[in-house]
Formats: sequence, structure tokens, C-alpha cells
Amino acid sequence: MRLSVIGCGYVGLVTGACLAEAGHEVVCTDIDRERIAKLNAGGVPIYEHHLDQILASAHQAGKISYTADAGEAIRAGDAIFICVGTPPKDSGEADLSAIDNVARQIAAEAKSAKLVVEKSTVPARTGLELSRALAAYSKKSNVKFRVASNPEFLREGTAVADFFHPDRIVVGVEDPSSAAELREIYRPILERSFRCPVHNGTCPPGRKAEFLVTTINSAELIKHASNSFLALKISYANVIADLCEKIGANVEEVTHAMGLDARIGGQFLKAGLGYGGFCFPKDVQAFIHLSASVGVDFDILKATERVNKQRIDRFFEKIRQALWVVKGKRVAVLGLAFKANTDDIRFAPALEVVKRLLEEGAVVHATDPEGMPRSKALFPQVHYHDDAYRALQDADAALVCTEWDVFRKLDWDRAGKLMARKLVIDGRNLYMPQGMREKGFEYYSFGRD
Ligand code: UGA
Repeated sequence: MRLSVIGCGYVGLVTGACLAEAGHEVVCTDIDRERIAKLNAGGVPIYEHHLDQILASAHQAGKISYTADAGEAIRAGDAIFICVGTPPKDSGEADLSAIDNVARQIAAEAKSAKLVVEKSTVPARTGLELSRALAAYSKKSNVKFRVASNPEFLREGTAVADFFHPDRIVVGVEDPSSAAELREIYRPILERSFRCPVHNGTCPPGRKAEFLVTTINSAELIKHASNSFLALKISYANVIADLCEKIGANVEEVTHAMGLDARIGGQFLKAGLGYGGFCFPKDVQAFIHLSASVGVDFDILKATERVNKQRIDRFFEKIRQALWVVKGKRVAVLGLAFKANTDDIRFAPALEVVKRLLEEGAVVHATDPEGMPRSKALFPQVHYHDDAYRALQDADAALVCTEWDVFRKLDWDRAGKLMARKLVIDGRNLYMPQGMREKGFEYYSFGRD
């Protein structure tokens, strides 16, 4: 099928690349001309595992193209995926002006009927508003649009694998023909009849994705409800960690046993510095705002948010307890990205840690496999190192802020010899407390002795 993708950020680029790799003809556009120029030159503007590889292969097969001309992209597709940003306003409400602009563009540029699919994360009822807006903006041309909601559940870092092996594909539609069209778009994924780029061509055996057809409102709510529930699970685990510290229990033993109950599930129960990124913090806020706007008080989500914000305070309590005076101390920050395997530092807990360290007068040395270029622009006063051991040289403390594998595998015997003081404060529970102490470290983490 011929598909258009508007917005070449994480969601748009992964969606466009994967749908092209699955066999469709995809035209991508973005208002950022530099981004389009980079893509046309064979570059990849974001770091995402496997993305470069599938963009190259889709490009070689002539399945994907990029244009800064939104009209050209809009006219090219039978279905148009809207993947533009919906950043939070100061109130926490999602800013939908980019979606509105795209609706105007689609209405102005389309010459034939289109299926318009919202993939950006949006509050419930946006699809209905989008449908109204498209009808109003296309009054003169009289081109007909159908609207659908197709929320994405991709995680940064594993977005390509998640796209090809989803648990479920949700489509919120107004009529059966839109559902049929979307089923056709996703047929290669549902039938696993594509060359799996993540597993050397062949998908591993496993459960096939469920294709769920719902109303547009339900589809939009499914996305928000899912993200918020995962955030709630993390905050729950973090409070359990605090309790474990007071009571003398081990959070990993507790959450592991909890997770074995199929009704609870073991994922997203990892205690530490809390959640960050451009999804959970903003989605939780937007969901609280949406609920309040229709008179529903989503108290547990407010608590989720509060607990998450307190994680940084809890981390600093540990830092102060260990270091006493922070001012003038040389501190190695291991990890800047909001989680491992991404270069995304938006709303990263690590950045809040760096900000507070600088405010308190620490000398900050930092390292991150992918997050440094973006962080340099925000915190030029930090000393950046490609090599973790250089960051740890002469450090009074090492602060682990992101769960990168390279940090998990660090040689702490070697690091210990380089550091001024053998002190590790681990915000991601990467190491075994006893093992670190046996190596002669003072070691602090969350919810474990
Ligand atoms: C999240 C969802 O997991 C995706 O399903 C969703 O599509 C996406 O948001 C989105 O709305 O676009 P993502 O933000 O990429 O994906 O990252 P996650 O892997 O969910 O992690 C979010 C944060 O929670 C990270 O800071 C991570 O370190 C933290 N986390 C995660 C924990 O602190 N503990 C855990 O047990 C799991």
C-alpha cells in the first residue's frame, strides 16, 4: 500500500521505516528541513537499535522516500499516519496545535479521499475533534476523510523489535472499511510474513499479535491507560523499595516474588531513580489533566507522579549521607540518557541529578554511550568522557543513573584503583551489594542492604 508519514521523530521514523520494510511504499515528511536533508543523504537523525539498517534496506528497495514538501507526501499515500509531537503545556495538558496544523495541511493538499491515522499520543476525543477539523477545513475541496486512532506501544531503544513483534495492534475506527484497511497495512506483521530484521530474517516462534478493533475514544484511552499503569507500577515498586530500606528487606526479592503472580507480572517493577523520558512523565500529567477536565479525580496517578519526583530527593539523601558536603567534590555520573539503549535525554532523571549536583557546587564528570552530545548543549560546564574509567578517575563518588550494559559490566577492581574514594551510589540497582562491598566499596542502592 502507499502510505504517508507526517513527522519524522521517534514514532514517525520507526513507523515509516518498519512499514516500508514490511513491503509498503512510504513517503515521509517533516517540517524540519535539515532532518529531511539528513535522511535523504542516508543519515539517521536519531539513535535507535536496527533503525539505520532497515532505513538503508528500505531505501535500497525503493520503498521509502523523504520530502520536505508536506503536500507531496500527503498526496502520495492512501493512508496518512500523523506522528507529530504533542508536548505538554505548563498546565500538563497536551498541546495539540501540531495535530491541528497537520489537519489543515491535509485538508488543503489532499486531492482524493484518505484514511487519516493518528499515531501521536493524544488525549481521548482528539480523533473526534480531528474528524471535525478535517471536515471543516476541507469544506471547499469536498475531499472526504476517514479518521482512525492507532496508538503505538513502542519503547525507545527496542522500538523496531516492538514494532515487528507487538503484543497487540489497536485500531480505533469509525467504520469497518478503515479497520479493514489498517488490517491490510499490518497484515505482514500479523502474519509474520516479513523478513525479520531483528532476528536475521526469521521471527522466533512466539505468540502472534492480537488485532483489536475499537472505537476511536477507546483506542486513545488504551494508550494513556497503559502508559499510566506502567508508570504506576514503577512508583509502586519505588515505595516498596523505601519500605524495604526502613524494614530491612530486599526490594528485588519482594518484586521478583510479586511478579511471578501472573496477575501482577514481573515487568516494570524495577526500583531506582524512577521513570523519565518523553512519554511517561508527560502522559501521566496529560491523563491527570484529562480526567480532571471531565470531573474524575485520578488520585492514584497524582501519587504516582509525586513518588516519581521524590526519587531524586531520595537519591540526594543517599549522596549527602555518603559524601557529607557535596560542594567541591568530584563526582562521576554514569549515564545521562533516560534509560539504556537510547540517546534520548528528555526528562531523564540523570539530568535532574546533574542539575542539582552543579547547583550544589560539585565538579561533575559524566559519561554515557549515546547521551553526551545532547547533554553537552544543556550542561556545557560538565566534563564529558567517552571512556567510563576516565570519568571515574580521581572521583570521590560514582553515581549510576542509567542502566547501560557497559556500566553493568564495568571492572570495579580497575575503577576502584582510579577513584579517589571507593564510593558507589547506584540509582539503578545494577550491582550486588555484597559483591561491591567485598571489592572494598561503600555501596548504596535502592531498597537493598
Ligand atoms: C514507554 C512505554 O513503555 C511504551 O509502551 C510506549 O509506547 C512509550 O512509552 C510511548 O508512549 O511512546 P519508553 O518511554 O520508551 O516507552 O520507555 P520505557 O522502557 O517504558 O521506560 C520508561 C522509564 O521508566 C525509563 O526512565 C525507565 O528507566 C523507567 N523504568 C522502567 C523504571 O524505572 N523501572 C522499570 O521497572 C521500568
